Amino acid sequence: MCGIVGYIGNRQAAPILLEGLSKLEYRGYDSAGIAVYNGERIDMVKSKGRLKVLSELTHDGEKLPGTVGIGHTRWATHGSPSDKNAHPHFNKEGSIVVVHNGIIENYLKLKKKLQKKGYEFVSDTDTEVIAHLLDYYYTGNPLQAITKIMHRMEGSYALGIIFKAHPDQLFAVRKDSPLIVGHTDGGNIIASDVPAVLKHTREVYFIENEEIVQMTENTMEFFNVDEEPIEKESVRIEWDVNAAEKGGYEHFMLKEMYEQPKAITDTFSPRVKDGRIVIDELNMSDEEIKAVKKIMIVACGSAYHTGVTSKYVFEGLARIPVEVDLASEFRYRNPILEEGTMVIVISQSGETADTLAALRESKKQGARVLGIVNVVGSSIAREADNVMYTWAGPEIAVATTKAYSAHLIALYLLAMKFAYTKGCIDDSDLADMLEDLKALPAQVEMLLNNKERIQKFANRYLAAKDIFFIGRGIDYAISLEGSLKLKEVSYIHSEAYAAGELKHGTISLVEEGTLVVSVLTQKDLFKKMISNMVEVQTRGAFVMAVTMEGNTEAERAADYVIYIPETNKYFTNSLAIIPLQLLGYYVAVGRGCDVDKPRNLAKSVTVE
Ligand code: G6P
Repeated sequence: MCGIVGYIGNRQAAPILLEGLSKLEYRGYDSAGIAVYNGERIDMVKSKGRLKVLSELTHDGEKLPGTVGIGHTRWATHGSPSDKNAHPHFNKEGSIVVVHNGIIENYLKLKKKLQKKGYEFVSDTDTEVIAHLLDYYYTGNPLQAITKIMHRMEGSYALGIIFKAHPDQLFAVRKDSPLIVGHTDGGNIIASDVPAVLKHTREVYFIENEEIVQMTENTMEFFNVDEEPIEKESVRIEWDVNAAEKGGYEHFMLKEMYEQPKAITDTFSPRVKDGRIVIDELNMSDEEIKAVKKIMIVACGSAYHTGVTSKYVFEGLARIPVEVDLASEFRYRNPILEEGTMVIVISQSGETADTLAALRESKKQGARVLGIVNVVGSSIAREADNVMYTWAGPEIAVATTKAYSAHLIALYLLAMKFAYTKGCIDDSDLADMLEDLKALPAQVEMLLNNKERIQKFANRYLAAKDIFFIGRGIDYAISLEGSLKLKEVSYIHSEAYAAGELKHGTISLVEEGTLVVSVLTQKDLFKKMISNMVEVQTRGAFVMAVTMEGNTEAERAADYVIYIPETNKYFTNSLAIIPLQLLGYYVAVGRGCDVDKPRNLAKSVTVE
């Protein structure tokens, strides 16, 4: 998704913009640009491709002198990735310049109106409409022009804006796309996300919907859409600056896999007190918990897979029916949210457009919405009735690993809390489960340390055409994520199947040597899984099994076995996913793929 950085202060803007944009690369982009006011006019350089190209074109920013500027990394939505569609965008005279993250949904209508008034467009973007619309409404007062366009635009936007006639000011505004501002030594900075400003400041303001910021070198004022001043409080960011950097690992993905033990500990330990699960942020009395008749879990991508896992956990432990839905489906299927239904939305970024829309739809229908979110202060975190943060820290690799693991922990805790409150588990069950939870970080670490073995195995499958993942129950949910991890980073086609479903079609795809990864962590399903593994093995498949220590029977139907340590049957996902993450990672590395930024993907999908 697009990234925005803006700076006004007493230092050269361009190097700050380039450095800030580099910290937003994880969001995914296909072109980049910067614009800087040089004392006479606004100069702009933009180009398709990586930031490196922009740095070269601008001699690391030296070619664009000036102390106020805006920069952008673009992930194409309207108009192909190209120099002309890259941001920033100008009005005709080059006196107003804009960068934008989001989508202006009524841009065609606005474009036609502007064209009738003589405005000419040089790009295919919705953003250019904003520059011309500002021009149309600007009569000397920038704030007034901004609020006027806010009344005309439908859709989502975070904007950074410079008016040549007001070179000592920088403006920013947002609606449904993230934006933060921070005060630095000798200046102010705006950005789409925290890593871009951490080098300069730890005190940031999260801009809310339809809020405007007007900045000078030393001042920062906030306004609402009626141009009325508003007060805002800053939030202190406690992340370590290094947490947003690669810290010695070859890729962010590997680094973040290694941060999983910590992410797991940080997510559960503050919520376990004196042998009890305490989730203050849930803000639900025991009576309210007991009154929950049904849970609907809504999310996208890997977050959706944690939802699929937790269906088995909630239903098994707390005997509450759970429906899990993809947010993009949920929001348009007129969902039925009867009284007693609790909605849980899960999102690493807290900005996924479909998940946010599902949250809003649920609230509109009167349901109570709990957000399980990693990014503090994100849109979902702010709009949900209650938020349970996973404390995984910033995740940079597009393919999620540590946030996925932290989400699982949050969901286990929640299911255990519900089960205990409802009397489905007693003190001794709870104590046993908490012991198993506490053991997970060390067990994950042990599995990660086995990485060389998986790397060797992965190297045998670098040329694979198709890979299948099968499992039953929770193991099916693990297979879904294992398959997604592998395909999204390695570009090898893979599919996950409920093992029992295999013979209803998919088995015809199995050929001599096809890799079938079988997950069997559930004791009561071992035998059934072994039958399914034999079925594919006799048809020529090479079977890799991920199973529990002691289940040597798996070797009967598998050519290669990875053992995971004993844990509670509801927590096996947290362990079994580790070798599968490593498999995906090493296949991608072996194939020379751009592991942290797989083609066509974005970390934070803020369009539907
Ligand atoms: C993108 C990412 C996935 C992620 C999904 C949902 O597709 O590439 O890794 O699982 O969005 O993102 P969220 O931030 O809502 O968890």
